[in-house]
Amino acid sequence: MPVLDIQTATATYPVHIGPGALAHLLPVLNTLSGPNSMAVIVTSPEIDRLWGSAVRDMLPHPTHTLLIPAGEQHKRLATLETLCEQLATLGADRDALLIALGGGVVGDITGFLAAIYMRGLRFLQIPTTLLAQVDSSVGGKTGVNLGAGKNLVGSFHQPVAVLADTNTLSTLPRRELRAGLQESVKSAILGDADLFKYMEGNIDVILAGDPVALAHVVEASIRVKAAIVAEDEFETGVRATLNLGHTLGHAVEAATGYTTLLHGEAIGWGMIAALHLAQTRSAIPTEDAVRIAQLIQRTTSLPPFNATADQLVALTARDKKKRSGVLKFILPTGIGSTEIVRDVTEGELHAAAAFMLAAMLQTLPHATAVPA
Ligand SMILES: NC(=O)c1ccc[n+]([C@@H]2O[C@H](COP(=O)([O-])OP(=O)(O)OC[C@H]3O[C@@H](n4cnc5c(N)ncnc54)[C@H](O)[C@@H]3O)[C@@H](O)[C@H]2O)c1
Repeated sequence: MPVLDIQTATATYPVHIGPGALAHLLPVLNTLSGPNSMAVIVTSPEIDRLWGSAVRDMLPHPTHTLLIPAGEQHKRLATLETLCEQLATLGADRDALLIALGGGVVGDITGFLAAIYMRGLRFLQIPTTLLAQVDSSVGGKTGVNLGAGKNLVGSFHQPVAVLADTNTLSTLPRRELRAGLQESVKSAILGDADLFKYMEGNIDVILAGDPVALAHVVEASIRVKAAIVAEDEFETGVRATLNLGHTLGHAVEAATGYTTLLHGEAIGWGMIAALHLAQTRSAIPTEDAVRIAQLIQRTTSLPPFNATADQLVALTARDKKKRSGVLKFILPTGIGSTEIVRDVTEGELHAAAAFMLAAMLQTLPHATAVPA
């Protein structure tokens, strides 16, 4: 079973990947230095019902489980405050270990909880969605949303280990699986042409949930992210490329109240928009643009939503990647390459948003529709 070591400026930790990776929980805990006063699992009720006992059965006592409601709308400071109070009631001290069991929402909240409770606890990630396995559980970005936008409050806090057990994806709704795959398409565009080709050739087994095919996708995606995070843990440079598709993707999520589209679906739409922008600048070979659009189209259902281009452009003004009023936009320049550009005009954003909306209306996003 593959074990990747993530090395950042502040931490080194293992990621165990594949069917049955959960079995490594106790050996991993045994390698942690320092005392563990208690283990506290943070999860949501449905994931607890499905996978909670599989984790608890492997843990030494005492173990506690804190439940948070599922859904992006609960990734808020209010949830965090409740969890802090619950940890205090349990008597959790700085030697407690938090275990995030769930998707990106549980992982982001638990990681932030670990970053701030008593000024910092250790935490371990057990991601149970494809999105969390290929992306959010690795790299140490944690946080919650504000009414003004996504992930606007947070911290960098690396986990002590990640167990990405692809068997846990067997209970994941297919729509979630497809949405999560968008982050792998993103990783492949960023830096792995072989992964891109693998997904093109094996999409049916991947979408059927084959744990071995999924393990390959998870491992390759994490390799891309690991290399980027090793170079730039705190997003002062290359890490921004992981936001490919996120400028307009986050705007779509905000415009639709975080309820109509799943995060990965919004990123799929955002990548369609970024692709259009790249094509209008002749920044990407047409053949690559066509393949990317086709893979996005084959991997997700991209449900329709209500928004206008004006609305979406206005929402990009809150983008966290904006520094001193300048937006950093991630342009796909080929299969395996991207470029960070700072000169995207409001007109270009508007055209990209309008293209995305038109493509959504046709529900046939296709790069060849765009003049190169
Ligand atoms: N920290 C990062 O680097 C990073 C990167 C990408 C995305 N994110 C964040 O991740 C979040 C999205 O994560 P997500 O797509 O995993 O969504 P999610 O956490 O909301 O999970 C999706 C749904 O699947 C359910 N679920 C989870 N695992 C399951 C399983 N094995 N079986 C059945 N149901 C299961 C959850 O209860 C939930 O209803 C967003 O908030 C996004 O901002 C963070």
